[in-house]
Amino acid sequence: MACFQRAAVACTLVLMSFFVGLSQAKDVLVGGKTDAWKIPSSESSDSLNKWAEAARFLVGDSLVWKYDGQKDSVLQVTKESYASCNTTNPIEEYKDGNTKVNLDRSGPFYFISGAQGHCEKGQKLAVVVLSQKHRYTGISPSPSPAEFDGPAVAPTSSASTLRGGFLVALGVLILGLF
Ligand SMILES: *[C@@H]1O[C@H](CO)[C@@H](O)[C@H](O)[C@H]1NC(C)=O
Repeated sequence: MACFQRAAVACTLVLMSFFVGLSQAKDVLVGGKTDAWKIPSSESSDSLNKWAEAARFLVGDSLVWKYDGQKDSVLQVTKESYASCNTTNPIEEYKDGNTKVNLDRSGPFYFISGAQGHCEKGQKLAVVVLSQKHRYTGISPSPSPAEFDGPAVAPTSSASTLRGGFLVALGVLILGLF
């Protein structure tokens, strides 16, 4: 292979890995600080949802809660249970004090506190998760690795594995070129 061709291929690969890197999922601390999962003070009621509206969540990102697992918990619930603060039969219950929930699909997610009376006093959070293609706004029509993310049947872990495998393959290719 001629030298300039190699350079072109390597350049393309580096660019591709750059865009793959952009699509890496992130962990988002709920409320942006460690003591945010609590009953909001009256003047900042609904502050968690104000925070959530200003943030952007993409499929594959994770929400992280830090709290005292002896006193509080995180319940993932339906829209109805969110609205009525119903803590019976949540979709998921977390009480380890260091909860990480993977946002594995697009659409709304609803969380309420499992502590008695806390949800009624405003300790609740609703987030809307956007599909991966929102990461590529403005970059299209170049094909994006996010297309592997597919519909709800494909768990994000496999998408991450795919990305990881892709990066390794890139590395091997680039090394092989020089
Ligand atoms: C709370 O949810 C449970 C299960 O989803 C349901 O059986 C119950 O009637 C609900 N309670 C109230 C007060 O809505």
